[in-house]
Amino acid sequence: MADTSHGPATFWTQADALLRKNLTYQKRNKRTNIRLISFPFLLCLLLVIIQNLVNSQLDKPENKCGCACIDKNGDGQCEEVCGLQYSDLDQAATCPIEHPPEWIPLLQIPEPDQRAVISSFIPYADLPNESCKKTGSCPVTLLFTGNNQTLGGILAGNVMTSSFIPNSSVDNFTNTILGSDSKTSKQNFLDPAFASGLPLYAVQRQCTQNSTFSVTVDVLGSEIEEEVRCVQGLNLWRNTSAEINDQLYKGYRKGNLERKINEIVAAYDFLNSNPNNFNVSIWYNSTYKNQTGGSDIGLVRVPRSVNLASNAYLQFLKGPGTQMQFDFIKEMPKAGTKTRLDLSSLLGTLFFTWVVIQLFPVVLSALVYEKEQKLRIMMKMHGLGDGPYWMISYAYYFTVSAIYMLCFVIFGSVIGLKFFTLNDYSIQFVFYFIYINLQISLAFLAAAFFSNVRTATVLGYICVFGTGLLGGFLFQFFLQDKSFPRVWIIVFELFPGFSLYRGLYEFSQYSFSGDFMATDGMRWGDLGDSENGMIEVLIIMSVEWVLVLLVAFHIDQGRSPLFYLKRYGKKRSSFRMRSLQRQDSKVFVQMDKPDVLQESEKVEQLLLESNTNYSIICDNLKKVYPGRDGNPPKFAVKGLSLALPRGECFGMLGPNGAGKTSFISMMIGLTKPTAGTAFVQGLDIQSEMNGIYTSMGVCPQHDLLWETLTGREHLLFYGRLKNLKGSSLTQAVEESLKSVNLFHGGVADKQARKYSGGMKRRLSVAISLIGDPKPSTGLDPASRNNLWNVVKRSKQDRAIILTTHSMEEAEVLCDRLGIFVDGNLQCIGNAKELKGRYGGSYVFTMTTSSSHEEDVQNLVKGLTENANKIYHLSGTQKFELPKHEVRIADVFHAVEVAKSRFTVFAWGLADTTLEDVFIKVARGAQAFNVLS
Ligand SMILES: *[C@@H]1O[C@H](CO)[C@@H](O)[C@H](O)[C@H]1NC(C)=O
Ligand SMILES: *[C@@H]1O[C@H](CO)[C@@H](O)[C@H](O)[C@H]1NC(C)=O
Ligand SMILES: *[C@@H]1O[C@H](CO)[C@@H](O)[C@H](O)[C@H]1NC(C)=O
Ligand SMILES: *[C@@H]1O[C@H](CO)[C@@H](O)[C@H](O)[C@H]1NC(C)=O
Ligand SMILES: *[C@@H]1O[C@H](CO)[C@@H](O)[C@H](O)[C@H]1NC(C)=O
Ligand SMILES: *[C@@H]1O[C@H](CO)[C@@H](O)[C@H](O)[C@H]1NC(C)=O
Repeated sequence: MADTSHGPATFWTQADALLRKNLTYQKRNKRTNIRLISFPFLLCLLLVIIQNLVNSQLDKPENKCGCACIDKNGDGQCEEVCGLQYSDLDQAATCPIEHPPEWIPLLQIPEPDQRAVISSFIPYADLPNESCKKTGSCPVTLLFTGNNQTLGGILAGNVMTSSFIPNSSVDNFTNTILGSDSKTSKQNFLDPAFASGLPLYAVQRQCTQNSTFSVTVDVLGSEIEEEVRCVQGLNLWRNTSAEINDQLYKGYRKGNLERKINEIVAAYDFLNSNPNNFNVSIWYNSTYKNQTGGSDIGLVRVPRSVNLASNAYLQFLKGPGTQMQFDFIKEMPKAGTKTRLDLSSLLGTLFFTWVVIQLFPVVLSALVYEKEQKLRIMMKMHGLGDGPYWMISYAYYFTVSAIYMLCFVIFGSVIGLKFFTLNDYSIQFVFYFIYINLQISLAFLAAAFFSNVRTATVLGYICVFGTGLLGGFLFQFFLQDKSFPRVWIIVFELFPGFSLYRGLYEFSQYSFSGDFMATDGMRWGDLGDSENGMIEVLIIMSVEWVLVLLVAFHIDQGRSPLFYLKRYGKKRSSFRMRSLQRQDSKVFVQMDKPDVLQESEKVEQLLLESNTNYSIICDNLKKVYPGRDGNPPKFAVKGLSLALPRGECFGMLGPNGAGKTSFISMMIGLTKPTAGTAFVQGLDIQSEMNGIYTSMGVCPQHDLLWETLTGREHLLFYGRLKNLKGSSLTQAVEESLKSVNLFHGGVADKQARKYSGGMKRRLSVAISLIGDPKPSTGLDPASRNNLWNVVKRSKQDRAIILTTHSMEEAEVLCDRLGIFVDGNLQCIGNAKELKGRYGGSYVFTMTTSSSHEEDVQNLVKGLTENANKIYHLSGTQKFELPKHEVRIADVFHAVEVAKSRFTVFAWGLADTTLEDVFIKVARGAQAFNVLS
């Protein structure tokens, strides 16, 4: 016997029961767990493989400082030596440079078609004619000004030699102004001019006819043949520095916005210079860099232009024999570097978005599964409150998510993904913590809108991949586009998938650049960076987490947020108040059914005196489904009044579609009544369903079981919900299992999905009866005899409503029966009463060959004029004979007579069965409905 002293389960007992059930359930779902966990592992491994491919590419000789095999000692054995001298331009960037090479300083020369010529904008007559552009022979221009034009002229004259043909010795270049129109690069270990294949220019006052010659220069220890072209340098005087400025300004664009080129080599303003004071300002283009190269840093060829002015002044002071030689220029020494490219960080954003977000459909489908299978409501009916359900479910999914994320981060760190190792773990923790909370809340919210696991799962995964792809191929471009309004980025981030993407994107950016520059990734201090969106993402996600959780909770409770406002002004309805309000509803009680009328009067009476002997009282219960797609509204239950005393089993009979299921659904809280109400143990189903659940056992028509839990685990769970503990729990579970014949042969420890239909049915009954709930509402088992025993045994202290199609079952089990057709109770009473009332007749059956059918009819007519043929099929006929007009002896006599006249295959005389009553009542009610 179950221990009856236990009260309702406490919050923590319920929470404990649910937690144990969830853990068992999770343990069973091995395949899902493995799939879930292996996804991030596979992605991480994939990243590591990709990264290794990239690294091996970077480790190839062409991406590293060049090396060569040199026979140093002359012993025929070569040693590998690496360095600048063995590298090409690409390789050189990574070489250690202990002794930087020396370079001939060069001037920056405008390209031939971009040199200053005369034009409508710049009308200086001393500029060359535009026609020189066609031949590519335009001179290059140097501009001069100063306070003393005489002095300026002298200095300008000293700047360049008239004509000079260098010979192949490098030293001689110190006297020649060499320049190049190639672009510069980030570093000056190798001036790109010498390796570019472009010609060098020698700037001279005059060029001879054959002004191209070649020289050999020493580039990284090897002799390189360079072509040197002579280019004429024009020294032009301008009256003021404002004029120079004006010419530079106009020449810069020349009215053509596409043209962004500096036209002159350099311009000098000698200011107030005199023999005692050298004061000069120099214009040059300081941003002459390789724009297509993409780097923002470019070294400029400026030193030579400064040297030219100084040299000219020195010669003015000391005479042409004196020279300030500018022999070479060289970069600072540097250590070797390694090219790093952490591709895994860049790819990581998309991959990790998928990894993190894939928990969403998992949680969502688990929640929808419980809803679809009606398990949630089942648990509620067994006393599981909303509080423990929410707390445990939330904590449970949070733990699952947290373990998942932990595995993910640990695994990623162990295999060395920079994404994890470089960024501060505490930031990662905060970010993931907030996000998974938000995600679980969202899953709870979304679960309210799905009723089908498959739809939810499919949409969930579409959401996963869609978010990742949209993030990677749309959102990221907006992030990188600095001109995209930041406000819109924030609007995007209101969608949680994008805020996740943004956060991961920031991590990847920091780990990428951290790896590239060999520094740290994101630190707390970096959250203040103007480019760093992490802080805004954290704020958005935290706020959404709280909001979504609140909304989800309210929707789960079936309330709009206005609920609490409404509740404030509304008093709880009581028995008495309700019965006073409903006087008008009496009008609808049909007068032609005295038993039904009597029942509803009893209900009236009971409501006024609130009698505790009655477990269930239905008070004019109505259910109307609104019309859809142009169909009229469906009246499923049209006003049901019913009073069931303790210990009664009430059988509700009715054809399909009569409204039985609607009635039961209302009683167990699956749907709300449209009007009227019912009281279970004095509690109103409209408002106190939660209280009712603690005292009700429901065995629903369909088995509401977890596929992967065993019978015993089901009973343990529901037993705990009923506050059974320790030995009384084990005992109750065993009793239950035995009572429904599931105890022997290890059946109890098989998973429910392996059960046959009958076993599931029996388990459902056991669940509904465990923990000895008081009244048992809604029992509809498609059951066999052994179930009947269970029901009979357990009805002593409760009321049972049984809806069934089996008349036999109803007659055996039920104390009273009601026949329910088209939403109305047609009659009510015990089986005998009903038979007496509706079956005041015998049923006479006779089977003959079809040729004698008429003889049989005559025989019956002879017995009574009021016989009624109710059935006829190829020789077999059934008649109803009114009891008060027929004597049984007469029937036997008539049959004997008939037997002598023709062959009678079979015959029978029976008292009315319940089935006959049922058919009669149902037909009658339906005919009435057709007429009305
Ligand atoms: C300009 O410079 C020349 C050469 O040094 C000098 O002879 C002359 O006096 C200067 N003129 C003025 C106005 O200072
Ligand atoms: C090379 O330069 C030296 C020194 O200036 C000079 O003596 C010699 O004649 C030059 N050779 C040629 C071929 O110009
Ligand atoms: C510069 O000044 C000289 C004399 O002061 C004048 O003749 C000449 O036209 C001026 N040049 C320009 C371009 O204004
Ligand atoms: C300097 O040179 C660069 C590269 O050709 C060009 O883009 C830029 O506009 C020039 N700046 C000026 C002020 O001419
Ligand atoms: C150099 O020229 C500038 C601009 O005219 C002037 O402000 C500055 O005082 C001069 N410096 C000397 C040392 O003359
Ligand atoms: C400048 O950029 C072009 C195009 O990217 C590249 O081919 C060239 O090597 C670069 N030059 C230097 C000196 O970096």
